[in-house]
Amino acid sequence: MAATRKRVLVTGGAGFLGSHLCERLIGAGHDVLCVDNYFTGNKDNVAALMANPHFELMRHDVCFPLYVEVDEIYNLACPASPIHYQHDPVQTTKTSVSGAINMLGLAKRLRAKIFQSSTSEVYGDPSVHPQTEAYRGNVNPIGPRACYDEGKRCAETLFFDYHRQHKLRIRVARIFNTFGPRMHPNDGRVVSNFIVQALKGESITIYGDGHQTRAFCYVDDLIEGFVRLMAADDDVTGPINLGNPVETTVAELAHKIIELTGSRSKIERRPLPVDDPVQRCPDISKAKSVLGWEPKVPLEAGLKQTISYFDKLLGENR
Ligand SMILES: NC(=O)c1ccc[n+]([C@@H]2O[C@H](COP(=O)([O-])OP(=O)(O)OC[C@H]3O[C@@H](n4cnc5c(N)ncnc54)[C@H](O)[C@@H]3O)[C@@H](O)[C@H]2O)c1
Repeated sequence: MAATRKRVLVTGGAGFLGSHLCERLIGAGHDVLCVDNYFTGNKDNVAALMANPHFELMRHDVCFPLYVEVDEIYNLACPASPIHYQHDPVQTTKTSVSGAINMLGLAKRLRAKIFQSSTSEVYGDPSVHPQTEAYRGNVNPIGPRACYDEGKRCAETLFFDYHRQHKLRIRVARIFNTFGPRMHPNDGRVVSNFIVQALKGESITIYGDGHQTRAFCYVDDLIEGFVRLMAADDDVTGPINLGNPVETTVAELAHKIIELTGSRSKIERRPLPVDDPVQRCPDISKAKSVLGWEPKVPLEAGLKQTISYFDKLLGENR
């Protein structure tokens, strides 16, 4: 066994980000226990790892306690797209809050280091741009997105209370829009939506006037940020923004995807949903100075990888 081999638990490991993280950790020579209830994730996402004896997959809902022995925990379990987290909002809050309590309890018992995948949604509809970690957010506590936003905010509170009260070693990352292969094809997120629509030759739906901006980070860059944050000194608790600060308007993204897919899709406009933020962009100064991290993959290169994944996926289902 390699001297640096660790036993790492990844909750939500069969999801989009989780499956890339599992792959990365296995590649680094660790033992990975992937836990998932398959609400939005699936076994296909980790199928390539199943033959590896250092990879283990377990069906489990983080709303219930888990008794395993590990050295590090990455807590990713939680549906991430509005369509999925609004499907059963009570369950979303339970997953964020009870899931955090259960994983923090496990980390406390094991004295394990624990990472929380928080979100830019803790900033709500921000009144400052770009958002630094010091910005406290503008969240509507009773709106349809609150189950996710407030669930994640409460999870952050729990992480910092366990840190102060029980001296737990915590890492909190606030993740901004990330895309790449293995995103869910029907999750309503803008990149997957546009690519699937373009590949099927359907109209590309833009909500609002398309001038709202998003900053898209490619998954490989994000996972590098996760691993660096976990490996940082214990005084680096976060919260720390991880995302790509290069802004693109939703309309520009649509045109880029039409160009890269060679699609004949037309653009169709629809009204903006409730509480949809107009602009959101990370200030990543802290990640740069503390972790020496910044995104490297340009939008176009990431889109090409993602398009080829969806092209194959849709081809299999045709
Ligand atoms: N992708 C992004 O742009 C983004 C942005 C901000 C935050 N995040 C956070 O990163 C994490 C992973 O997001 P993702 O994009 O991979 O989404 P995803 O939906 O693909 O992955 C979430 C995984 O968690 C699993 N899960 C959900 N509820 C569970 C439960 N109760 N018990 C066990 N497993 C459960 C799902 O089945 C899925 O495999 C989430 O916590 C999300 O909030 C993602």
